[in-house]
Amino acid sequence: MIRFEEQENAFYLDNGRITYCFGIAKGRWLESRWFGRHIRRIGGSARPRYFDRGFCSNPDPEDKKFSLDTLPQEYPGMNEGDFRSPAYGIQTADGRRVTRFVYRDYRILPGKPPLTGLPAVYAEGEEEAETLVVRLEDTATRAQLLLYYTIFREYDAICRHVEVVAGPEEPLQLETLMAMSLDFPRADYDLLTLSGAHLQEKTITRRPVTADSVTLESSRGASSPQQTPCVLLTDPNTDEDRGRAWGINLVYSGDFRAVVQKEPFGGVRVQMGFNPQTFGWQLAPARRFVSPEAVLVYSDAGLNGLSHTFHRLYARRLCRGYWRDRTRPVLLNSWEAFTFSIDEEKCLSLARQAADLGMELFVLDDGWFRNRTDDHRALGDWTADPRKFPHGLGNLARKIREAGVAFGIWFEPEMVNRDSDLYRAHPDWIIRSPRYEPVPSRNQFVLDLSNPAVCDYLVESVARVLQETGAAYVKWDMNRHITDLGSAWLPPERQRELSHRYMLGLYDVLERLTARFPRVLFEGCSSGGGRFDAGMLYYMPQTWTSDNTDAVCRLQIQYGTSMLFPPVTMGAHVSAVPNHQTGRITPLATRFAAAMSGNLGYEMDIRTLSEAEREEIRAQIALYKELRETLQQGTFYRLRDPGTGNEAAWNFVSADGQTVVCCAFRILADPLRRTTAVRLRGLDPEADYRREGDNAVFGGDELMESGLAADPLRQDFTAAVTVLHKV
Ligand code: DGJ
Repeated sequence: MIRFEEQENAFYLDNGRITYCFGIAKGRWLESRWFGRHIRRIGGSARPRYFDRGFCSNPDPEDKKFSLDTLPQEYPGMNEGDFRSPAYGIQTADGRRVTRFVYRDYRILPGKPPLTGLPAVYAEGEEEAETLVVRLEDTATRAQLLLYYTIFREYDAICRHVEVVAGPEEPLQLETLMAMSLDFPRADYDLLTLSGAHLQEKTITRRPVTADSVTLESSRGASSPQQTPCVLLTDPNTDEDRGRAWGINLVYSGDFRAVVQKEPFGGVRVQMGFNPQTFGWQLAPARRFVSPEAVLVYSDAGLNGLSHTFHRLYARRLCRGYWRDRTRPVLLNSWEAFTFSIDEEKCLSLARQAADLGMELFVLDDGWFRNRTDDHRALGDWTADPRKFPHGLGNLARKIREAGVAFGIWFEPEMVNRDSDLYRAHPDWIIRSPRYEPVPSRNQFVLDLSNPAVCDYLVESVARVLQETGAAYVKWDMNRHITDLGSAWLPPERQRELSHRYMLGLYDVLERLTARFPRVLFEGCSSGGGRFDAGMLYYMPQTWTSDNTDAVCRLQIQYGTSMLFPPVTMGAHVSAVPNHQTGRITPLATRFAAAMSGNLGYEMDIRTLSEAEREEIRAQIALYKELRETLQQGTFYRLRDPGTGNEAAWNFVSADGQTVVCCAFRILADPLRRTTAVRLRGLDPEADYRREGDNAVFGGDELMESGLAADPLRQDFTAAVTVLHKV
């Protein structure tokens, strides 16, 4: 799949469907040539002509037409005449930021080597992928940049990351480091981003790439609900089903920066990596630093095509472990029903009723540990509150299992309240500068995970509870962002390393815990989808998508999240009405249709339901279990975007193509257009499909071309779920 063409001086990564190509210009610089649909040979038919342009410096004095400022570059530096956004900034021992990295050599490795200490897409066998490592060397310090590129046989994705090795005799200081940089050829693109806020995560914004730069970033200590480390570029006419689309996503959960820069001569530079605002790293001579990984996907089957590659790749080669290929349990979570006032008796009565309704897992959320009466205290002290749980958690978990459901539990391990034994014992374990009062958020502070003793404490305190309870599930929460970036553990000259060291510490904790408890299902959470990113999925195969459980809001949030992540990764719960976040009252059936489109759970006091509601929920869960394989492991097609109108729709197709589930939503009632038809996707046009309910039979071609009509009720916030079987 990877070859070097001597005559063209070019590397090709090619799996027969996509081609990624870059060359070596003048024997030194790496020149981006192509990333897109498979092309046999990149002869340069569209290569821009180079002119002697004003203000363009000429690293080859003999060739005034050649300037790095106009060359499409693969991994551009600074101070050499490319004044666009640099991929790295390195300060050498003399305090200067001038380097000259030049191409040296390359290696091709079978498979895909892991990234030590960092989450990454993996290959299961050496035959699945090939990796190219291109070595650049600085002519003065002999520092090296190793550019890694992996291509997969089965997935239309390229994984890139970078390693920096300081020269044998000279330390260096990393100030900026991108995991990837790529110059797209001259063309007009649309840029799609997934930004938002707490309660409104991953909203799709689409705009043309015009002049100047767009910067997406987080300096919050988490990928954040405000941004997603992801850039989607499309041709202007690309839609869900047709047209070219490129997606770049960072496999990282901390601070990041993504740059989309349209340059004056027409090309577009895209970069993703660390946020220089909170990044810095000292490298002693000969020491190595590894960047996070960026995943680059190309599709010419529109945004659905792009998402399908992300979904398949992430579900099969980013998520790991016992749960990767297994369907996930239907759960009941205690939070919205009880918040902090949870106790043994409530847990047991809830668990019994949950089992009776067909649920499979009871999750004890926040409020279970000593003195946790509200959000002012106790974070950090991970032992059960004897007043709420007089017989201990081990006993509770056993009784819950006896009631017929598995037991799961919530933690927020990265945090501490001042009013806690942990803080009283280790006030120096929080992230802060000793000269200022640290800024609280939700009354809590962030533990300094750059300190190995803190990481050990977290592993041991979580492990103790998991051992005691035999828990089958953990919800891992993180409810504030990081301010006061300062560590009592790190020396002054390493303080800028804190935000990345925090992530390395967290990843280490998660690696140790998931290895020790391989059967436990971990669900990530950060006040909802505040850290719903590819980095976390490596450790936890599902994430709580949003604290906003309103069915109408969820349509947009889940639609946006599905750009990158498959529905099986999205925690989605049916909650009580009026909804806690919006006050909206939506029908139970609509709440279910939204939640079954993700990884289904319930989050309400089911003891207060009417008999009719109980029966409805029992039927919902039975239906979900029947369709679970299709919903969790099938292919998901977005059909209608709730961000652009009054409707939303999507359909799932099972892996064997036999079952199709279509969910169509109408937000506000429409007196004129009572019926809506949506054109399904992913069906066999030659086959016929039988609709469950009335047994009507329609051709796949008709369902995809003419569509499937749903008759919404005459009311607001309706949903129609249609199940079709191939005949
Ligand atoms: C934020 C989470 O998103 C909620 O689901 C809940 O777990 C609370 N934290 C508990 O404090």
